[in-house]
Amino acid sequence: MLYYDVIIVGSGGAGMRAALEAGQNNNLRVAVISKTYPTRSHTGAAQGGINAVLGNRDSSDTTELHFKDTVKGSDFLADQDAVEFFVEGMPGAIKELDYFGVPFSRDENGKVAQRPFGGASKPRACYSADQTGHVILHALFEQSLKHNVEFLNEWFLLSIVETDKKLDGIVAMNFRTGEIVPIAAKSVVIATGGFGRIYWSRTTNAFNMTGDGVATCLDAGIAIKDPEFVQYHPTGMAKTGTLLSEACRGEGGYLINNKGERFMERYAPEKMELGPRDLVARSIETEIKEGRGFGEGITAYVYMDLRHLGREKIMERLPQVRKLALEFEGVDLITDPVPIRPSCHYVMGGIDVTDYKTGGTLIEGVHAAGECACVSLHGANRLGANSVADAVFYGKVAGAGARDVALSRAYGNAKKVEDAAKDWKSKFDTMRSNKKGNVNLYEIRNKMAETLWNNVGIFRVEEEMQQALTELNQLIEDYKNTYIEDGSENYNTAFLQYIEVGNLLSLAKSVTLGALARKESRGSHSRMDYPNRNDEDFLKHTLVYKEGEEFRIEYAPVSITKYQPEERKY
Ligand code: FUM
Repeated sequence: MLYYDVIIVGSGGAGMRAALEAGQNNNLRVAVISKTYPTRSHTGAAQGGINAVLGNRDSSDTTELHFKDTVKGSDFLADQDAVEFFVEGMPGAIKELDYFGVPFSRDENGKVAQRPFGGASKPRACYSADQTGHVILHALFEQSLKHNVEFLNEWFLLSIVETDKKLDGIVAMNFRTGEIVPIAAKSVVIATGGFGRIYWSRTTNAFNMTGDGVATCLDAGIAIKDPEFVQYHPTGMAKTGTLLSEACRGEGGYLINNKGERFMERYAPEKMELGPRDLVARSIETEIKEGRGFGEGITAYVYMDLRHLGREKIMERLPQVRKLALEFEGVDLITDPVPIRPSCHYVMGGIDVTDYKTGGTLIEGVHAAGECACVSLHGANRLGANSVADAVFYGKVAGAGARDVALSRAYGNAKKVEDAAKDWKSKFDTMRSNKKGNVNLYEIRNKMAETLWNNVGIFRVEEEMQQALTELNQLIEDYKNTYIEDGSENYNTAFLQYIEVGNLLSLAKSVTLGALARKESRGSHSRMDYPNRNDEDFLKHTLVYKEGEEFRIEYAPVSITKYQPEERKY
């Protein structure tokens, strides 16, 4: 049995910023558990930038504009009190990161450089070439080590244990050794990132983005808020879905169809390629559907053209993008356009955070931050470069919230955590000794991804989503009869994948249920059978709860403080 005052689950931007905040209090014992090594967390894949109003490139930028862009981008589903708190705090968050040693790119005056990004009225994305998330991750890791945060790498969250909505602790697996460990904790910050892998191969997300924290909270009785809102990044690479940063368009890249047209003129005449992601993704898909794309099937594409930027600018501002295009598409974007197509990138929905000033949830002691959390800052559609910003800003908020709770409460029921760990141990032993289930785990995973992409993707209709729900229900039944072939105790990654697939199935079902119930189009949720936004009936947050095997939906109001919903035009 381990005891920690504060446990952080996940070592990306949000987790590490939370750990640093809690770890700065020398009276607390703080640990991060992470299924990967911290500097390999998915924040490292965030390429293009982090939004904050600094006014370094355009002094007319204001936090009021950042607020309005974010709320409009969210299709008015964001909670405006939480957005205001965030935009006001971001300039200070960048100064902190600068002080921590993040090597931001600089302008000619030596100030942090900023570039345009989609849906933003001013150039406010601060960046470090096209490796922004990567450098932030490294700086936060160094700072966390400096403050004596302990790191339990290659540990995996199995469950949250609570009594009467008060945290007792968590159960985690050290998968290096196969040990299943009860950890008593006074507070926990869940920061496990998103769950784009519900679409398995059509995503920009790393292999391990399986929403473990979100699914675990769902099992503990916390709702998933707004799961139906899934972001499809306009420019995934055609063959693999891997990200080609929005910075490409921020630096002036064009999108071109098979007629050689910059087709965004039809869809967002003012913003063109720098429209918000939901709009640009739908525009690309429409071009493909109407025969103005190239290729066929899931890898049909249009082109991203950067050639006019020239070698020098590309090598200075987009070196990683160039390398990725070479490696994943075999295209040198200095000399050729790159085939791209939308790819699942981000989930706006997540763990229902009920207090945006602490990251708290309905279980005392359980906090959440980053992509796994829904504050709600992004509503129905997130703006590019608001994600790493969300992670570091609300990571700090949740870290402070968890710290304060840990300072004010005693440990809960440690025996209950121990008993939960024993149950997990017997499950692990059963799975590795009984190799004779009758359904292959990877078939379940592939079928889940296929039905989701085909039926609950960029464009949605009732019948197709019903079909997805039927198929998912069957897959959830099949999962009970699946098996793993690896009987070993150490590094049993097959068992890990078994848990991950179970998590993904719960989340895929939540997305589908939320999408079926929301009979309107808003942000990234685009229903062909209900093409308009319907504020009268659906200006509200979806809350999906799970009790045993049963899912149910409730709704919660949106906080609207100073920007009334209006038609969204770009
Ligand atoms: O396109 C990008 O560089 C991704 C940024 C983001 O999702 O915020």
